[in-house]
Amino acid sequence: MKGIVLAGGAGSRLYPLTQVASKQLQPVYDKPMVYYPLTVLIASGIREICLISTQHDLPRFKQLFGDGTQWGISIDYREQEKPAGIAQAFLIADDFIGEEQVVLILGDNIFFGGDVFPRAISEFQGGATVFAYHVTDPERYGVVEFDRDGQAISLEEKPKQPRSNFAVPGVYIYDNGVVQIAREMKPSARGELEITDVNKEYLQRGKLRVVRMSRGTAWLDAGTSSSLHDASAYVQTIEKRQGMKLGCPEEAALHRGFLKIDDFEALVSKMPNCEYRDYLAGLAGEVRRVGLSAA
Ligand code: G1P
Repeated sequence: MKGIVLAGGAGSRLYPLTQVASKQLQPVYDKPMVYYPLTVLIASGIREICLISTQHDLPRFKQLFGDGTQWGISIDYREQEKPAGIAQAFLIADDFIGEEQVVLILGDNIFFGGDVFPRAISEFQGGATVFAYHVTDPERYGVVEFDRDGQAISLEEKPKQPRSNFAVPGVYIYDNGVVQIAREMKPSARGELEITDVNKEYLQRGKLRVVRMSRGTAWLDAGTSSSLHDASAYVQTIEKRQGMKLGCPEEAALHRGFLKIDDFEALVSKMPNCEYRDYLAGLAGEVRRVGLSAA
């Protein structure tokens, strides 16, 4: 299974912050926003990742991640010339996907809690798997409707009159057929290749699985100044209370066995003195003392 992080878009709702760095590079408390979705992929065991962004922002992502070897993963980069929809990612990255299955995550989606994604990825057998999360403002998202048996029966992109409160978050798992579906799609009225249209195609074929995320999980939006601030406050609250970090790729890579403890310690020793380094150094000590599972 390959992974794609889509980090394009103008981020106009965060102007003037996004004059210099894209939305996905803005800080969410103590790390760039894109660390959170990237960590979801690593924690799900995905090692080969393609990051898609604009020509303007790609150099900054490359500066941040390099080729990924420091975390025991590989990161390829592709450019999205114009924001022509989420499903365009499968056309941009078709040579990267090759013959494999793929999970796409949006670079501005922040999740915490539970193991819903690693589980769905390890259980994945084909077709498509998407998720459903109860929200108060479904009209802002892709919306999924369920029948009495909990079967998904309709999907709509940003409907004015949503048929349910279940929004579809920005994590999508597909078999290799998604590339062909994207090739045959037509742009929507807003000129985009809609990810919801891809999911509708799988629904029509009877190949769509929709996993409801439990109420204990958090899906945060950081698309406006206010929600960006709220997301930071949320991360700070959890991290301060638990003494554990959220969205930390180094930690996920260590847990997944992508990084051996020696390489992890070498990586930490190269970091400047800061709270992030102290945290990872503490983690290394704990792993040395009690092993991986307890840390
Ligand atoms: C996109 C998708 C939408 C999905 C959302 C999740 O919306 O089109 O279906 O629910 O991401 O973040 P957009 O980012 O274009 O508003």
